[in-house]
Amino acid sequence: MLVREMDTNDLDEVWEIEHESFSKPWSKSSFIQSMSEVNNFYLVVVKDGKVVGYCGCWGILDEGHICNVAVKESVRRQGVGILMLKELISHAQARGIRSLTLEVRESNMPAINLYKKLGFTVAGMRKDFYTRPQENAIIMWRREMQ
Ligand SMILES: CC(C)(COP(=O)(O)OP(=O)(O)OC[C@H]1O[C@@H](n2cnc3c(N)ncnc32)[C@H](O)[C@@H]1OP(=O)(O)O)[C@@H](O)C(=O)NCCC(=O)NCCS
Repeated sequence: MLVREMDTNDLDEVWEIEHESFSKPWSKSSFIQSMSEVNNFYLVVVKDGKVVGYCGCWGILDEGHICNVAVKESVRRQGVGILMLKELISHAQARGIRSLTLEVRESNMPAINLYKKLGFTVAGMRKDFYTRPQENAIIMWRREMQ
């Protein structure tokens, strides 16, 4: 498996994973706009020539907000998620980011377990943050990276 920066040629495959993963998927144009922001970066995982996962990070000063984390349904639970997020953390550190944060649905145990495994801890909750279905968000942080 290879982890590299996402480019616009990946978006057809990313869009398919986005649609099977989220009830309110992002459009390709939302990805294009976000990828073009100089402080943001997006990574893809490629396996046998196919995109099987992706994640993004929006940088604000020395903090990074992780977004759009998803792995293709047919290859989940094979270490793709942890691989790409470890790489995201390295990329973030190289850009001078010292703390990372994210929101996650409070029922999303696969993702919460994944983030805890990477050193993220629960820092708070945003009530009814999500719609379709309505649900609270758990806020997690990984602070003071070297
Ligand atoms: C969350 C997600 C990205 C995990 O990706 P993945 O490639 O399956 O994760 P990995 O195989 O790297 O698993 C790493 C760890 O995450 C946790 N985990 C992953 N899937 C899990 C599951 N179904 N149940 C419980 N824990 C799980 C475990 O701690 C696992 O470590 P282990 O295998 O040693 O127990 C994937 O399930 C996904 O795309 N979900 C839909 C989209 C989504 O919810 N994104 C997150 C939005 S905040």
